[in-house]
Formats: sequence, C-alpha cells, structure tokens
Amino acid sequence: MKQKSVFVCTECGNKSPKWMGKCTMCGSWNTMEEEIMTPEPPSKGGGISLAPAAVPKKIKDIDSSCEIRTSTGMSEFDRVLGGGLVKGSFVLVGGDPGIGKSTILLQICRHLGKSASILYVSGEESPNQIKLRAERLNITTENLKIYSETNMNYIKNAIASENPDIIIVDSVQTMVNPEIGSSPGNVSQIKDVTSSFMRIAKDNGISVFLVGHVTKDGAIAGPKILEHMVDTVLYFEGERQQSYRILRAVKNRFGSTNEIGVFEMESDGLHQVPNPSEALLSGRPDKNAGSCIVCSMEGTRPVLAEIQALVSPTNFGNPRRMTQGPDLNRVLMLLAVMEKQSGLHISSYDAYVNIVGGFRVSETASDLGIIMALASSFRSTPLDKGLVAIGEVGLTGETRSVSFLDVRISEAEKMGFTTCVIPYNSSKKLRRFDKIEVVPVRHIRDAINKFL
Ligand code: TYD
Ligand code: MG
Repeated sequence: MKQKSVFVCTECGNKSPKWMGKCTMCGSWNTMEEEIMTPEPPSKGGGISLAPAAVPKKIKDIDSSCEIRTSTGMSEFDRVLGGGLVKGSFVLVGGDPGIGKSTILLQICRHLGKSASILYVSGEESPNQIKLRAERLNITTENLKIYSETNMNYIKNAIASENPDIIIVDSVQTMVNPEIGSSPGNVSQIKDVTSSFMRIAKDNGISVFLVGHVTKDGAIAGPKILEHMVDTVLYFEGERQQSYRILRAVKNRFGSTNEIGVFEMESDGLHQVPNPSEALLSGRPDKNAGSCIVCSMEGTRPVLAEIQALVSPTNFGNPRRMTQGPDLNRVLMLLAVMEKQSGLHISSYDAYVNIVGGFRVSETASDLGIIMALASSFRSTPLDKGLVAIGEVGLTGETRSVSFLDVRISEAEKMGFTTCVIPYNSSKKLRRFDKIEVVPVRHIRDAINKFL
C-alpha cells in the first residue's frame, strides 16, 4: 500500500498536503508537522452505521440507576467530579508540567484500590520511579498494577488480560498506535489513542483517567475535538512556586462545572484544603496599605481571598500594569474607571495586582475589592483589617449587584470579619447579620472616601 503523508497543524488540526510555514486556518507559525497516513479501509454502507441500532425509548423507561459512583477518598476530588467517580466515565486531566497530575492520580489509588483494581499505564516514568513516589505517598494497596508502556497494542492486550476497573493513562501525549506511523503527541496519534481508550471505557464499563499536557497558552495539547470526546475535563492549576493547587472542572457530563477542589502540595503529597478561606488568609500582616479582602464564589462555595495592589510612580514611558490572579484586562478597565470617576490620578503610576496564594479570580464581584486595594496603596493608607469588599463596578464608577450576596457575607462573618462593603442596589433584599456590619455604597467614590 502506498503511504501518503499530510501536514497537520498542531494548534488547530488543519490538514494540508503541502508543508506551510504558517497555518492558513489559525495563522500559527511553524506548527505544521508531517504525519504518515495509512489509508483506512473503505467503509461499507455509505458512511451510515448499519449495526443493529438501539431503538428510541421513552424517557421514563430509561434506567438511570446504572450511574454508580465511587468515592476517590478525597472529598475535594469527589466534589469536582460531581460527587464521586462515575463507573465507565472518561476523565481528562490537564495541567502544567510538575503541577501534580501524576501525584494526585496516584494518591486517589489509595482509596479506590480498596474496592477496585487499577492499572496505571505510564509512558513517562519507570516502574521504579512510580514505586518510589508511591512509597513516599504511603500507597500500599494490593490492587494497583503499574505498567510502563507506550505501545497501544501491548496496552490493549494488558487491559484485556488484567480486566481492571480503573485505568490511569499518564499521559496521552506519550502513547502511540504504531499503525499510524506518526510520532507520539501528534494530532492524529492523540485522537486515535483517545478514541481507543474511549471504546475500552464505554464497552467494558472501565473508568479511565487520561493525563494531558497543556500547551504554553494553557489548553490541552492536541486537537480541540479531544475535549468533546471525553465525559469530564479537569484542569489542575496553580503557581508552581506556591503550594496551593486547584482542581477545576471545565466540562462535566455528570455534574456542575463550577466546583473546585483545593489542595496543598507538601513533602508527602497533596493534602486537601477543606477551608480555603482560612488557608488563603493565614499570615496576613496587620496595617498594610494595598490589601483588601474579596469573596469569590467557586461553584457553590464562597472563598475569601486577599487582593494585594502596589501602586508606584512611573519612572519613564508608559506605566506598567501587571496582574497575577485577576484578569489583566479587567484591572486595566478598573484603573481607567478610577482615573475618571474617583478623582485618584492613577494613570501616571505603575500598578501591580496579585491574589495571595496563587489563586485565580475571574468573577466581577471582586471589582470593588481590587479598586479598594489600589486606592489604599495609592493613598498609602491601610484599610481596616476586618473589612471585606464585594461588588461589581460599572464604567461610570457605580457599584452593581452580584449573585449569592447572602452566602458571601455569611462566609465573611464566619471568618471573623466585621465590616462588609456591598453594592447599594443589593442592600434591600438582604437578611440581617448580627456579627458583621453591612455597608452599602452607590459609587466607588463613596467607598474610597468612607474607608480610606
Ligand atoms: P507530578 O505529579 O510529577 O507533576 P505532573 O505529573 O503534573 O507533571 O508533581 C511533581 C511535583 O510535585 C514535583 O515538582 C515535586 C512535587 N512533589 C512534592 O512536593 N511532594 C510530593 O510528595 C510529591 C510526590 C511531589
Ligand atoms: Mg506526571
């Protein structure tokens, strides 16, 4: 058979018969890689499956009790999965190198291994390395088998003979189907390997965890279709230098995608952080200008986090603006609103905004807190240590209401805060709070003048 080669863009999966420096589909440079294609046998039936198809069923006749969930032994992990691991589900776990993907998947074997047999297929580490890590993590289960292999043919045989309940594949980018000729990590390899594991999961009711590397802009390397194929996509994120790690669902057929699990990396593995607010606020210094507490909803859970801002005169040229945690564009907008609406002439100052602990906040409910932190640094005046600021800020400097305000204020009250600044519009519908004073403000000017 004559072999044909095509060039596939590693960014978007665009195929071209010729090599090109720039992909015509997504515009990326130097992303076209050669792949050898083996022609597929012509399918019968004109592309329509003629297998004895399932018949349409009334929804009330469909059995839903087949959704069996097993606990991973880590409630933070279970929460992100929507309440435990669903039998036969296919979970993709993405994250930066060294963030702890292999560690957490090995750690859940400790509990899962009590009731299920697990096959851990690694294309990245030798059995020795995994054993050493497992010893450090104190994983002694009898039901865990390690298999260092990357050839899909051998892996399929091993799965058939071992018949495990759970398979962990570390990582999809290292696995190869030798019939496809292209090298591991290529778009066609990733697609093929994923669909093989998918078939294994769905046909035998085996739960599969697939580790995926991420590219430099944070998406899982491989074709976009990868995320459509799987049931659940989890991202493991955090700053490598800092110890907090956040497991976040970005797609979940079996639960909400808003939930997060918070972990801390220590010398004996990842530990759950059941109360992230407490952890994120510990070690907060007294009387520091440029710090303000906000409350962000992570799924159903309110999390208090500290925003730190540093504002200092620009020495030359354009002012620098940097963020770690909050969205840079949002902060640029808030700086413009401050300049125009609050009378603080911040445009000739550099501004840096951080969230302590490597946490990321994308919610607009932290707008007011970011502005308060910036204003506090600008005026070199610390805010009251018991203050929390919640609210979205509009372009005219007005405060706007946010969802779940009651829940957020309760969390602040529970953590011992004494004052909570909120948007004026939301103040009428609120319940009464005993231990925390709720201060509604209409405009960022009011908030700044009152507390700074
Ligand atoms: P790892 O799980 O290998 O990351 P990934 O599979 O996502 O690439 O995590 C490795 C990092 O975690 C490594 O830098 C060392 C650190 N680590 C600890 O701090 N404590 C531990 O107990 C373990 C196992 C790893
Ligand atoms: Mg790894």
